[in-house]
Amino acid sequence: MHQSSQFTSLETDMTPLNIVILAAGKGTRMYSEKPKVLHALAGKPLVQHVLDCAVELKPRQICVVYGHGGEAVPKAMQQYAAKFVIQEPQLGTGHAVQQAMPHFADDSQTMVLYGDVPLIQHSTLHQMQQAGSGLVLLTVNLKNSTGYGRIVRNAQGDVLSIVEEKDATAEQREIQEVNTGILLAPTNKLRGWLAKLQNNNSQGEYYLTDIVSVAVQQGVAVHTVQPAHEWEIHGINSKAQLAVLERTWQLVEAGRLLVHGVTLADPARIDVRGKLSCGRDVEIDVGCIFEGDVTLGNNVRVGAYSVIKNSTIAAGTDIAPYSHIDSSEVGANCHIGPYARLRPGTRLRDEVHIGNFVEVKNSEIAANSKANHLSYIGDSTVGSRVNIGAGTITCNYDGANKHRTIIEDDVFIGSDTQLVAPVTVGKGATIGAGSTITRNTPEGELTLSRSKQVTLAGWKRPIKKK
Ligand code: UD1
Ligand code: MG
Repeated sequence: MHQSSQFTSLETDMTPLNIVILAAGKGTRMYSEKPKVLHALAGKPLVQHVLDCAVELKPRQICVVYGHGGEAVPKAMQQYAAKFVIQEPQLGTGHAVQQAMPHFADDSQTMVLYGDVPLIQHSTLHQMQQAGSGLVLLTVNLKNSTGYGRIVRNAQGDVLSIVEEKDATAEQREIQEVNTGILLAPTNKLRGWLAKLQNNNSQGEYYLTDIVSVAVQQGVAVHTVQPAHEWEIHGINSKAQLAVLERTWQLVEAGRLLVHGVTLADPARIDVRGKLSCGRDVEIDVGCIFEGDVTLGNNVRVGAYSVIKNSTIAAGTDIAPYSHIDSSEVGANCHIGPYARLRPGTRLRDEVHIGNFVEVKNSEIAANSKANHLSYIGDSTVGSRVNIGAGTITCNYDGANKHRTIIEDDVFIGSDTQLVAPVTVGKGATIGAGSTITRNTPEGELTLSRSKQVTLAGWKRPIKKK
C-alpha cells in the first residue's frame, strides 16, 4: 500500500501539466474600459502575476481564456508562450474551461487558475501536485464565507460536492470551508466531466464546480489542499478589493525585507513593484517606491520618497530624499540628492556626488567627481575628480541629433557654463564661470568665453511714462 501510493505520487509528478487561466470576466465593478485582469497589482497586470506563477510550474501548455476588451489581453501578454482562446458568450466557469480543453492532450493533468486571483503562490500549487492522483481542490476555511461555493463533505469527511451560495440551503451556507476555484484534475477525466455539465441552476451557468459530484459518483478520489496564506486566493472584483490586496502584498514584501535585516522606517510605507534585493544594513525611509529589478548594496541608505527603478546602488551610497533613479548604475559611497534625477544610462563610479536639482542622462561619471547643484549632464563622459559648478548644462541636442560632451580628469567647470556638444574639455582644464564653450579646450589651461565686465558711469534706469 505504502509502496503503491509512493508510486502514484511519483507518477503524478511526472505527468505533463496544462494550465488554464480563466480571464473572460468583464469586471463590471471595476468601472473601467480596461479588462479587469489588466489592472495592476504591485506594478504588474493581475493576469501576469498568474502567468508568471504558471510558468514556474513548467507546464506543457498554458491556455488563457479571455473575453472582454477585444484583443487587449492577448496583446498585453504576447511575450508568454501561451494559447489565447476567446470565450464568447460567457456561460460560466465550466464553459470557460471547456474552451481550453481542445488544446490539452489526454496524457496530462489540467490545473485551473484565475486571472483575477493574482497572488497564488508556486508553493501552494506544488502542494496540490503532490496531493495525489484524482481531483485536487484548493479550499480555504473562512470566518465569513459569503459569496463562495461551499465544500460539502459527508460524515467521514470525504468531499461530496461544491454548492454555490445561490443554490445552497441555509444549513450549507453555515459551512466555512469554501471553494477557491483553483483545482487540478486528470485531463481525460476532466474532459468527460465537463461534457456532462448542465446549466439548470439559479444562475443558468455551466458551473465548473459541478464536476466534483460527478467525480465522486465515478469513485474518483477528491483531495483538498489549503493555501499557506489566505491572501493567495483573494480575487479582485473592484478597485477597493484591488487596493486592499495591494496593501496586503506590500506588507508581505516589507515583512520579507525585515526578515533579511533591512531597516524600514515604516513597513506600511514602502512599495515594491518588482524585485528588490538588499545587502546588509540597508535603511529605507518612508514613501519609497522600487520598480523592476533594484539591487541595494550593504549600508545603502534611501531617503524618503525616492523612486528607484531597474538600478543597482553599490555599498555605502547615501540617497537623500526625493531622488529619482531609473536604469542607472551607482557606485559605492556616492551621495545622491536630495532631489536628484538619474535617468537611463547613467553610470556613476565610486564616491560621486550628485546634488539637488541635478539631472544626469546617458552619462558616465568617474570616481570622486561632483555636480552638486542645478545641472544637466546628458550624453557625457566625465573623468575623475571633476568639479562641475552650479548651473552647468551640457547642450547635447542641436534640434536634430544628440552629441557627446567629454570632460577629462581633474577638470574644474565654473558655475553657469554651457558646454555645446560635441566638445571635449582637456585634462586638468579650468572653465571660467558663465562661459559658453563651443570648441575643445586645452589641457591644464583656463578657458573662458564671457565678455569683459564694464561699468557705464551715470547710467539711469528708465522711468515709467505718465
Ligand atoms: C466561483 C466558483 C465558486 C468559488 C468562487 C471563488 C463556480 C461556479 N463558482 O464563483 O465556487 O467559491 O469562484 O472566487 O465556478 N469566468 C470566465 N468565464 C465565465 C465565467 C467566469 O472566464 O463564463 C472567470 C471570471 O472572469 C472569474 C472566474 O472565472 O475570474 C470566476 O467567475 P465568477 O463568475 O466570479 O465566479 P464566482 O461566482 O465568484
Ligand atoms: Mg468571483
